[in-house]
Amino acid sequence: MDSPAWRADNRADLDQVARSVTTWIESALDSPLYAFLASRISQDPQMLALVGAIDNAPPLNLLFAGVQLRLNTADPLAAWYPHLAGADARPPDADAYAAFSAYALDHAAELIEMGSTRRTQTNEVGRSAAILPWLVEAADAWGAPVHLVDIGASAGLNLCLDRFDYDYGDKTVSAINPSATRLTLQCENRGGFALPDSAPAIATRTGLDLAPIDAMDADATAWLEALVWPEHTDRLERLRAALAIRRDTDVRMVAGDAAVSLLETEANLPPGPMLVFHTVMAYQLAATQRDAIDASLAEVATRRPVARVAMEPVRGAGYLYLYTGLSYATAQVRAGAHAHGRWIDNVA
Ligand SMILES: C[S@@+](CC[C@H](N)C(=O)[O-])C[C@H]1O[C@@H](n2cnc3c(N)ncnc32)[C@H](O)[C@@H]1O
Repeated sequence: MDSPAWRADNRADLDQVARSVTTWIESALDSPLYAFLASRISQDPQMLALVGAIDNAPPLNLLFAGVQLRLNTADPLAAWYPHLAGADARPPDADAYAAFSAYALDHAAELIEMGSTRRTQTNEVGRSAAILPWLVEAADAWGAPVHLVDIGASAGLNLCLDRFDYDYGDKTVSAINPSATRLTLQCENRGGFALPDSAPAIATRTGLDLAPIDAMDADATAWLEALVWPEHTDRLERLRAALAIRRDTDVRMVAGDAAVSLLETEANLPPGPMLVFHTVMAYQLAATQRDAIDASLAEVATRRPVARVAMEPVRGAGYLYLYTGLSYATAQVRAGAHAHGRWIDNVA
């Protein structure tokens, strides 16, 4: 999540920091704990100074994730975090803020350092369930194993989509290539879409990312977990299972700008159709990068069958759009989807 109201040059101005924090609360309504803590932070000069010292954006996400990364059940503050306290977690209250601010101020130097050097880069595996029907539609037309490419793959979790089980409410789809860890993704098929019998057969998996997250690196994956908001215990469980599956899956990650690396990647793939997807990535691209990706796909299409499925935010819509089509100009909207893949529906 980005925080457009945040401006580094205003960090020393606590009133400005307080306004940024207040604006941020609007995007935190599905975390009662974070919304509550942020509302108290906005009135607490010591905590505003800490937030202001985080030289990165969005600073509140980074502060909260930093606390979550280090917090353990022995800390009194853990009592308010459902992923640590379980069903006994206390609802947000004045004591929660006292415990949080005491913890944050005690660990201020480390939190500022973490916040200033880490990124709010997440990987939401629930999106696999939303894109699966349209990936299978493309793969079925070819009838051959596909080279799966995820642009903006983060840790590459969604490249393991044939290893997950799916429950769409009206149909279940079993993993065709199960790992020792099983993960069922729930996605309500509100739009009555035709659902596949199985995921596509995958020949190779490649993730392109400016800064890939190393799924084998314990610190990197702990940070990924720390970015999950405390009440989202189902997402945390899903993430942990997906990471276990990912560690057991042969995925090639390519670091760099996909506007450049997509063509290089394709040149190194064995023959066969290429199935490209991206989820919640395109909003981070400049127009020139989007054009370069379009041009790359057009060039690939001269050499091999290729298709693209996208799941991306649209300004003003409260959900994501699912598109198919090789270029932005020709892409067709096929469905709407919950941001974390909890449902797919027709676009209103
Ligand atoms: C919001 S994350 C989404 C990650 C993943 N697709 C998901 O849905 O969970 C966007 C990702 O796109 C990557 N990204 C942004 N610009 C990129 C570019 N030009 N080339 C490759 N990756 C890029 C970022 O590094 C980040 O990992």
